[in-house]
Amino acid sequence: MRSFASDNYAGVHPDIMDAIVKANHDHMPSYGVDPISTEAQQLFRDHFGKDAKIFFIATGTAANTLILKHLTRSWNSVICSECAHITVDECGSCEAIAGIKLIHAQTINGKLSVEAIDPILSGRLDVHQSQPAVISITQNTELGTLYSINEIKEICAYAHSKGLYVHMDGARIANACAALNVSLKEMTVDCGVDALSFGGTKNGCMCAEAAVFINPELGVNFEFVRKQGMQLISKMRYVGAQFKALLSNDLWLRNAQHSNRMAALLAETAGKINGVTITQKVEANGVFAIIPEEVTIKLQEKFPFYVWDESTGEVRWMTSWSTTNEDINEFCFSLQDLMK
Ligand SMILES: Cc1ncc(COP(=O)(O)O)c(C=O)c1O
Repeated sequence: MRSFASDNYAGVHPDIMDAIVKANHDHMPSYGVDPISTEAQQLFRDHFGKDAKIFFIATGTAANTLILKHLTRSWNSVICSECAHITVDECGSCEAIAGIKLIHAQTINGKLSVEAIDPILSGRLDVHQSQPAVISITQNTELGTLYSINEIKEICAYAHSKGLYVHMDGARIANACAALNVSLKEMTVDCGVDALSFGGTKNGCMCAEAAVFINPELGVNFEFVRKQGMQLISKMRYVGAQFKALLSNDLWLRNAQHSNRMAALLAETAGKINGVTITQKVEANGVFAIIPEEVTIKLQEKFPFYVWDESTGEVRWMTSWSTTNEDINEFCFSLQDLMK
């Protein structure tokens, strides 16, 4: 099957699978103190600073939930966009597991801004209200759009001026770096981001995400939160091996660049088909489009993808490190045929 449903439909990149196989020898200490995981953590620190605290985690939902749990107290809230993964697609995990109230700022393109957040922080914040402690942004956003470096800097400066932290959901941070042609450091550390959910799974790994505390003080005692959160993986070496491969030889960047290129090609080719409307700026590896419902149903039989908005018929097509030119040609050929 070839699919445009999610970058999670793609398999594991061969270099990463090789790394898993190579790690599969001998006995090694468990729970993350093995030499492979230690080396992988060092590779993270090369990007995020020598004091950054890195914790491997199996899912993005867990990374987001546990980081936010760690950064808040029971009376705090987290500000996010109304389409943030943490509020739409994590089954209320922040509420149920972390006990956090999520406050939505309205956005038109999935991107928070100081203008959108300020009314929330300027409102009544007395003892009767939950107290915002963190602003959570997703880069790139759930709508495939990107914050510019300046926009992230502005949000971080504003958050810090109000005594809040900034969390970045970086499930697709590699795609964002590739699209903006900046380093991981420029996207996060240099902007003032405090903590990051770093995504490996969508970029060629499996069950490999990381909680990164760029501000090391914020990471103190997170190991206990991870354990209580049931995310302390015993045979961690296999996650460490994946990150070691991903962060070596710029594989993280090459995979993301490829995936972004495929999305651009898909948008360009599909966008030329009569009746297809591309609805969002294609900045990374997601393409959003409106096509007739009957075409969606037929096309999905051959190539799985999701309907994003039932009310408008907007669909989402995701590309990945393993999407090929042929996939795009075949998909667009079928789409064109159905649009006749
Ligand atoms: C923006 C975003 N954040 C986080 C995640 C992580 O989710 P999961 O728990 O499925 O790994 C996803 C996955 O779809 C996502 O799109």
